Amino acid sequence: MNADARPMTVPDLLAMKAAGRRIVMLTCYDAAFARLLEQAEVDVLLVGDSVNQVLAGQETTLSATLDQMIYHAASVRRGASRVLVFVDLPFLTYQVSPTKAIRNAGRVLQESGAHGVKLEGGRPMAATVRALVERGIPVIGHLGLTPQSVHALGGYRVQGRDAAAAERLVADARALEEAGACAIVLELLPSTLAARISAALTIPTIGIGAGAGCDGQVLVLHDMLGLNETFNPKFLKRYAELGEAVRAAVRSYAAEVRDGTYPGPQHSFD
Ligand code: KIV
Repeated sequence: MNADARPMTVPDLLAMKAAGRRIVMLTCYDAAFARLLEQAEVDVLLVGDSVNQVLAGQETTLSATLDQMIYHAASVRRGASRVLVFVDLPFLTYQVSPTKAIRNAGRVLQESGAHGVKLEGGRPMAATVRALVERGIPVIGHLGLTPQSVHALGGYRVQGRDAAAAERLVADARALEEAGACAIVLELLPSTLAARISAALTIPTIGIGAGAGCDGQVLVLHDMLGLNETFNPKFLKRYAELGEAVRAAVRSYAAEVRDGTYPGPQHSFD
């Protein structure tokens, strides 16, 4: 977050890259966490379509809907007033045509109060990115492992390992920048490739599983807080063990309810 605590803006993202200041992004799906993350001075909250997996328990992001994303984005905006909020456009809400993408992204901004949208894909999506940006809708791109293409990619695996794939990703990143994207998420790329893409662009890259050469980092909040204990990829660092903290708290509550020590007189009304 900028030092004077004024609201973060989209141009701040480019200014941070130019100044060599790393961007801190986390996923967020609700007002309670949005409040905490803003207090902890996160720069950007991403209402990721990972909500479909993390909160709704689905196997992939593919069945996330626009209404679902708007509901979560509006909740996040009610919890945070100064942080930038970007929202994933779900599968098939932007790939069909630029016109459909404008309508759907417009709905996200109008109905949730979010500042911009994120969408997946490189050169094939450049015209759509341009159409959105020209209508005043800020766009973050997403390259590398693009979860909405998980079936086509054959699973959640590192992308861009061979020279041809690496060149394609560099060209995709350049095309997104050219089309007006204000940042690009790079997911599951070799660090050297992510660093090369970051150095080639004037817009910031935000890495997840893409090494330290990116201009910022993003993690799924529930993963880094230890609330999703079965997900342990190499790139993930857990900064807390809230899963264990929740179990311990609930066990204490249950024991006190069962033995009659909760509620005590201090929790009861005369
Ligand atoms: O949906 C999401 O949470 C994302 C992040 C993993 C970047 O796209």
